[in-house]
Amino acid sequence: MNKIQAPKGVHEFVPPESGAFEFVRTTLIDSAKGAGYGLIELPVFEDTELFTRGVGESTDVVSKEMYTFEDRGGRSITLRPEGTAGVMRSVIEHNLDKGQLPCKVWYSGAFFRAERPQAGRYRQFYQVGIEAIGLGDPEIDAEVIAVADRAFKNLGLKRYRLEITSLGDAQSRAAHRVDLLKFISTLDLDEATAARAAINPLRLFDDKREEMRAAMASAPLLLDYLSEESRLHFTRVQELLTLFGIDFTVNPRMVRGLDYYTGTTFEFIHPDLGAQSGIGGGGRYDGLMAELGGADLSGIGFGIGVDRVLLACEAEGSITEKIAEEFGLDLFLIAMGQEAKASVSVLLNSLRNSGSRVDMAYGDRALKGSMKAADKSGARFSMVIGADELASGEAILKEMTTGATRSIRLDSFTEHFKEIRAK
Ligand code: HAM
Repeated sequence: MNKIQAPKGVHEFVPPESGAFEFVRTTLIDSAKGAGYGLIELPVFEDTELFTRGVGESTDVVSKEMYTFEDRGGRSITLRPEGTAGVMRSVIEHNLDKGQLPCKVWYSGAFFRAERPQAGRYRQFYQVGIEAIGLGDPEIDAEVIAVADRAFKNLGLKRYRLEITSLGDAQSRAAHRVDLLKFISTLDLDEATAARAAINPLRLFDDKREEMRAAMASAPLLLDYLSEESRLHFTRVQELLTLFGIDFTVNPRMVRGLDYYTGTTFEFIHPDLGAQSGIGGGGRYDGLMAELGGADLSGIGFGIGVDRVLLACEAEGSITEKIAEEFGLDLFLIAMGQEAKASVSVLLNSLRNSGSRVDMAYGDRALKGSMKAADKSGARFSMVIGADELASGEAILKEMTTGATRSIRLDSFTEHFKEIRAK
């Protein structure tokens, strides 16, 4: 029979590697929780209009990459390509925008973009994100960036860098747009590029083609058009980041892939990941909530790609030891003979009840095969129990890394082992 394979471009995590994925995701979430963000759990599919209106039709995400289909009731449904629009929809729907502000939420889950798959770029990928809604102060911009930065540092990452810029307020962007459109009108653009530029001229800064890069090299930069208020805000964000000890560079040519951004925007980049080097990004989206029919509240947040952060951790070898600590077994038990099996499984159960992480060699393997299983399990200790050990009430506990052994009594072992593993 033919084997059925996973759809093209999806990223799956199976044991033992899934332990590293789980560790990365949990570390990202812990950083959000530690800054007062609460969980928001949302559907993976939404009304298509949410994304066309919220994310913007000039973006690749909306124009080329959405998984859109008609459901059985004839409604147009889209698998979420990103999290921010859904959060806004839900915050409006549940009147959180009328409660205490800022409203601070975190989310974690699968997102879907029909991109060409390659290393670090998947059609189903995973993000941890946060959104802080209803506060325009630069302090919250710095907080959001710091939550991401702290998570990366907690994962032991050292080689990533942070780029920031400001897209200013509506007044700044309007002034810049006039000059940018004037500049663009001097370029010889193909039809598709001209159409993109007409919806959002900033997109041309993101064009990867060499001739477009060269053409845009002398284009007017938005940073030079910031209103006094936007300039002061951006300066304050930079001062705060410096006071927090977070390194960054200002990249005035940064273009985010989504159209809702205003003000401070940022990207975390890891140099070891090749073309897909963005491990996380975000920024302000001050008009988005009003655009989606809610109160005219400001907002800022980030989305971090868990898949890519995991690749970065692997490239830097930053979490191998932490994962062993987090997921490693304390003890691996080996029962020799049928009779010992029942006793060992009772001991195993009592050790687990007391909080130890324990497993045993199942099946009827010879001692050699069972020892191999103990090695593979990565457990710190192993212990063999057969008829002799049961008769004498004593067994040998072996420390796997050093090979050191000690004789222990089986009747008081569960309590005693708690002390042993604590050392
Ligand atoms: P984004 O930059 O489109 O922003 O995505 C955030 C992160 O998701 C990227 O930096 C990357 O690590 C990861 N990512 C995106 N696409 C893929 C893919 N195809 N495969 C693997 N990883 C991917 C957003 O989604 C915004 N919603 C972030 C945000 C929140 N802005 C404000 N609030």
